[in-house]
Amino acid sequence: MSEKRSNPKQLKNLSQKNALHFSNQDSTRQPKVLMKTFGCQMNKLDTALVQASLKDAGYGVADDESNADVVLINTCSVREHAERKVFSHLGNLKHIKQSRPELIVGVLGCMAQRLGGELLEGGVVDIVCGPGQIPQIPELVKQALVEKRKSLAVISEIRKESAENPELEELESVFDSDDKRIPGQAFVRAMRGCNNFCSYCIVPYVRGPEVSRPQEAVIEQIKRLAGEGVRQVTLLGQAVNLYEYKNGGKTYCLADLLEMANEVDGIEWIRFVTSYPKEEYFDEICNAMAELEKVCGYFHMPAQSGSDRILKAMNRHYTAEQYLDLISRAKEKVGGIAVSGDIIVGFPGETDADFEATVELVKKARYKNAFIFKYSPRPGTKAENGMEDSVPDEVKKKRNIELLAVQEKISNELSAEFLGKEVKVLVEGLSKKPHLNKAENQNNPQLIGRTSTDWIVVFNGPQSLAGEFANVTISKTSPLTLFGQLS
Ligand code: SAH
Ligand code: SF4
Ligand code: F3S
Repeated sequence: MSEKRSNPKQLKNLSQKNALHFSNQDSTRQPKVLMKTFGCQMNKLDTALVQASLKDAGYGVADDESNADVVLINTCSVREHAERKVFSHLGNLKHIKQSRPELIVGVLGCMAQRLGGELLEGGVVDIVCGPGQIPQIPELVKQALVEKRKSLAVISEIRKESAENPELEELESVFDSDDKRIPGQAFVRAMRGCNNFCSYCIVPYVRGPEVSRPQEAVIEQIKRLAGEGVRQVTLLGQAVNLYEYKNGGKTYCLADLLEMANEVDGIEWIRFVTSYPKEEYFDEICNAMAELEKVCGYFHMPAQSGSDRILKAMNRHYTAEQYLDLISRAKEKVGGIAVSGDIIVGFPGETDADFEATVELVKKARYKNAFIFKYSPRPGTKAENGMEDSVPDEVKKKRNIELLAVQEKISNELSAEFLGKEVKVLVEGLSKKPHLNKAENQNNPQLIGRTSTDWIVVFNGPQSLAGEFANVTISKTSPLTLFGQLS
């Protein structure tokens, strides 16, 4: 167990219970685990927590499949494409397993929840573990390695009672001191699950009902992270703006969490994702953004469509006009705020006129950036059950490309406003795609950072700046990236 960590006592017990005791093996040989992650920030956070708990239980980290004893894939079911990537990965692992049958393969997360025991049938997978059962991973891995036992840890129906899971709450206290964490940054879960049942979406089925964590647990966790040197926390929830926790006669909402987090010494920036367009608590959250100096002026608030008819069929409870009204109120209240969104093109029954309404909405919303997805029918959802996937793939593609072009023009106009200006960024580390300012020399490589409004900034500087704040003067812009020099 790492000396630096300040895990609660129970967690120590949990990890020690599952610590490795290989009595009949070379005790100096530490089994190595490789983890792969698909999907949203929730999954990234789950992976980090699993990695930290495995480290505490005595496992090492593998660099790739070739030196791994265990490969765990944390999976996403949100679109068919996301699942296909996992199946193709399992295909590769099947190949490796032919020469190394002792390799343990685990499927975690949303696909494990959706497909359950089916995944064990192909002979590749040894462990299937749903998102609510991930605290059991150290135990399941140990059973697979030592007792060669296959296991299925998935519950058939996630009810509210099982979603309020003390083991999961305990796991949140594990700290991801993983080397791969962006220095100075951490995700903190505010809520699990989702109750919205948008008709296209699998998330409520695989993640279960909405459960807000106690406000004290969230704030205590932020305090401990601050003590470890974290300067930016991102509060996570599928509809995080609807966070609600009743405690001692008071109902805490996201604005209360932001206010309490704002008081934590050491924390400098606070973000939250994702927001569901709804009146409830909206003004309180905008006020918190405007008034609390640490809360970043950035909203990720997906519209999904600009057609009221399609929004209704999607079971989203707002009209395009109401959505745009929320955005303009946020822009009025919070100076310099940036907004991003998600759009689905080709939802069942989407006509050219519906699509045009979406184009209009995107033009009016003036997003910093937008994620545009082609509709993918998901088994068991209302849209898949009752509506024909009527828009041909080539039409979905055409609409996707057209909308991307509309958004790119807007992003370009918004980014150009930064030319010649100085921005403050939290430095993430080395830039992965050195496109402009080629590394001048080893001591001055190309770095990447983000503004409080989530703009990506690329500049040259010492790598030691990772995890620190820096001021950068912008000299060139592109739709998604600002380029500049340290001021
Ligand atoms: N909770 C978040 C998003 C969760 S999924 C929210 O409600 O905004 C992330 C994005 O994937 C969604 O915003 C949606 O745009 C997209 N998505 C979800 N289900 C999809 C499907 N069946 N086909 C295509 N895109 C989908
Ligand atoms: Fe899915 Fe809708 Fe919940 Fe987002 S709000 S996770 S799109 S059901
Ligand atoms: Fe995917 Fe599950 Fe997240 S379906 S988007 S990983 S909640």
